[in-house]
Formats: sequence, structure tokens, C-alpha cells
Amino acid sequence: MIVGAQWGDEGKGKIVDVLSENFSVVARYAGGHNAGHTVIINGKKFILQLVPCGVLRANCRSVIGNGVVLDPLAFLKEVGALREAGVKVDGNLFVSNRAHVILPYHRMIELAAENAPGRVKIGTTSRGIGPAYEDKMGRRGLRVADLLDLKLLRKHIENAVREKNMIAHALFNSEPLDADKMYAEYAQAAEKVAPFVCDTAVLLNDALKSGESILFEGAQGTMLDIDHGTYPFVTSSSATSGGAVIGTGIAPTSITTVIGITKAYCTRVGEGPFPTEDKGDTGENIRKRGNEYGAVTGRPRRTGWLDLPLLRYSGMINGTSWLVVTKLDVLDDLAEVPVCVAYRIDGKTTVEAPAQASGYERIECVYQKLPGWKTSTQGVTDYEELPKAAREYLSFVAKETGAKIGMISTGPDRDHTILMDRFVTSLKTAAQKA
Ligand code: GDP
Ligand code: IMO
Ligand code: MG
Repeated sequence: MIVGAQWGDEGKGKIVDVLSENFSVVARYAGGHNAGHTVIINGKKFILQLVPCGVLRANCRSVIGNGVVLDPLAFLKEVGALREAGVKVDGNLFVSNRAHVILPYHRMIELAAENAPGRVKIGTTSRGIGPAYEDKMGRRGLRVADLLDLKLLRKHIENAVREKNMIAHALFNSEPLDADKMYAEYAQAAEKVAPFVCDTAVLLNDALKSGESILFEGAQGTMLDIDHGTYPFVTSSSATSGGAVIGTGIAPTSITTVIGITKAYCTRVGEGPFPTEDKGDTGENIRKRGNEYGAVTGRPRRTGWLDLPLLRYSGMINGTSWLVVTKLDVLDDLAEVPVCVAYRIDGKTTVEAPAQASGYERIECVYQKLPGWKTSTQGVTDYEELPKAAREYLSFVAKETGAKIGMISTGPDRDHTILMDRFVTSLKTAAQKA
């Protein structure tokens, strides 16, 4: 299971792509098309939002689990682009009949609410993710199985549009949406989505029963998790490893290995606490070198330093046994690399992550400056070929977090990867057990 250890965009897509070679199925369990997972194969770039990265391997099945919120139009657009790029989607991509559907009123309400006076601005991706999960939990959502049931779809859209138009007009003075037009568009989309739909919990459990291995592709990151992240500056789903169980319908006992992905530094898009943020020139340099601009929204990502207290917290919540460090090459030209080794509040070291966003304002980061390597690591594939200072940087991270480092990414391409032997062996053993 792959999970983001920070605030998303850790390079999960690339790592899933590299590892999917060893798995029969790749499954997404949370989020929606707020995710943007970039994979580069021999210079060819793919940005996946809803479709798991496993789709890029023809012998791998891909599952969009029940915990994902599915925008049918975004899904069809992505599927169309993949088909055009020559990627096989028919017969190896499956959508849960229990996933909830994002409809235009979710986007309308989100846009209006984000800009409403007195509301905390989250800086969302404006995809309607939050309001769709709200309807799910409010037991008034539309699921994929209901989307395909045209009579029910019409009734649902008529009722929901009436209600949402009233709410949006009263609260935000929004322009009303047209139910007939919406029904026509979504009934047409339903027909095209239908061939992908099945009971994916059965598919996944059958796969496990027949000895196949599943790679779960986390979206977002631990600190964006609805419960464990920097609430309210989070997304609306369970991005942590526990989410995979609820979000796909496999049993907790089926998960054998949790792999946390972290950048060699830190980034965050949108609003909210970010203790190690560097708003100065070095931060700007990292943004440029790391091409830190959102894959979905194009927004510049905020940049900062590796935050070990946060990684320890993330390791605890996820039960991470391996850490994968990405974007090591982005730090290549630094003479020294600051790393946050502890949080201090009122002069006292604390190991807890604050429960309130305001709690982060009181945090003072304790930094240790490690020597930089001032040598290119771009594209290095052998651990021994890394400069000594880079190896020491990685050992320091492993020692301070108590995690084993299984992989190191030294560039965006599939091939720019260092795989540690003991990690590969451990994955193969876990896959055999599954
Ligand atoms: P995800 O959301 O976790 O899948 O991450 P994103 O794809 O949104 O963001 C990671 C970005 O970093 C993408 O543009 C990747 O192509 C790129 N990337 C991944 N690994 C590396 C790496 O090791 N070095 C560099 N320079 N870029 C990387
Ligand atoms: P991947 O899977 C980084 C952030 C948004 C915003 C907050 C809530 O590519 O790592 P939402 O639209 O989900 O309601 O926005 O969460 N966010 C992400 N940041 N990577 C992501 O996904 C994100 N998905 C959501 O920027 O701050
Ligand atoms: Mg991303």
C-alpha cells in the first residue's frame, strides 16, 4: 500500500508506476480528480487523476474503489485521453458500483462557499470533492449504481437540483442549475461509464483469494486526511492507510505492507499550517528546480524543509514499514540542507501534532543543517553511486524516523529510481503471502 506521508504530491504516481510491475491489481481508495499523479515513461508524460497508475501496464487491472468520488465527465475525459495515447482501458479498468458521484451542484456549492464571507478558505481544487462527500455522509448522495438506473437518476437530479438551487441561492445568491439539461448530460455519460462498473469489493477479494497481489494507490497525503491531517485545511476523505480498507472493501488483515512516500523536502498546495515553509529565495529555488506547480490546478506549491516530527507522526498513523524518498535530485545544488528534527512549543519539545490549526502557529521548528552534496544525483540508479553526503542525508532520515528506506527517486522518469535489494525481496515475499 502506497500512502503520501506529507501534504500530497510526494511522487506517489511515479512510485506506483515503478512498483506496479510486481502487482496484478492497482486500486484507488480515496479522493477523486483532485488528485494529480504524474508518471513519466521514457520521456512520455501521463497525468492521472481518477484512473490508477496501474493502467499504464497492460497486464495490470485497475480499480476505482467505493471510497473514491467519481465525476463521470472527468472520468470519461481521462479515459478518452488514455485511449488516444494508446493505453488499454477496456477490460482492465473497473469502477465500483458503490462509489459516490460528483454532480455539477457540488462544484457550484463549493465555489460559492469557498468565497463566502466568514467561511474558512481551504484553497480547494474546486472539483466538488467536499460537497460530494458531505452528501455521501448525509445519506443523500448518488452512487454509481444509481447513476446507471436512469429512472432513479432523473428523480435524484430533479430533487437534488431543486434543493441545492434553493440553498445556493439563499446562502450565496448563486445562479440556478437546470435539472433537465443535467439529466440529459449525465444519462448520456452513464451509458459510457456502464461497461466499467462492477462490484469491485468482490473483484478485489477474489483476486486475493486466487493469490494475486494488490497495490493500493493512496491519493493526497497523511496531513490532508480528514481526521489526522491539519483540519480544517484537509481534503474530505481518509487519505491514510486505514482508508484503503473502508474505501475498497478488503479486510484490514489483508494489508501486509505500508509504504510511505516523502519528498526529500516538503511541499503543500492550498491554505493551512506548514511549519517548515521557506518563503524566501531558497524556497523559490526549490519550487523552480522541483517544478513545484500543481498538476491539476497549476497553482505554485508552497515549499519547505523535511519535517521529521511530521514524518514520525505519519509513520505512526499509517503503520509505515518502508519509506520512499523522492526528488532527492532537487536538493543537488544546496551547500547545506536544513531539516526539522523537533517541534518546540513554549520552549518544550513535543512529539504530538497539534489538533488545532492554530496550534501550529505556536510551533518553533528545531533545525539541524546537514551538509549538501553539490553534485548531480539526477537519474542515479545505484545507491552506491550517490555522493557520500546524500547517502548520509538518507541515513539520517532513516535513523530519525525509525523507518527503512526502500526506494530513492532521483528524477521524474520511471528509470530514475534506486531500488534497495532488501525492499524488493520484502515486497516479493509480501506478494507471495497475499
Ligand atoms: P503525486 O500526486 O504524489 O503522484 O505527485 P505529483 O505527480 O503530483 O507530483 C510529483 C512531481 O514530481 C511530478 O511532476 C513528478 O513527475 C515529479 N517527480 C517524481 N519523482 C521525482 C524525482 O525523483 N525527481 C524529480 N525531479 N521529479 C520527480
Ligand atoms: P495528490 O493525490 C496536493 C489539497 C488542496 C486543498 C485541500 C482540499 O496529487 O497528492 P479538495 O479539493 O480535496 O477539497 O482540497 O487539499 N489537495 C491536494 N494537495 N495533492 C493532492 O493530491 C491534493 N488533493 C487535494 O490543494 O488544500
Ligand atoms: Mg499530485
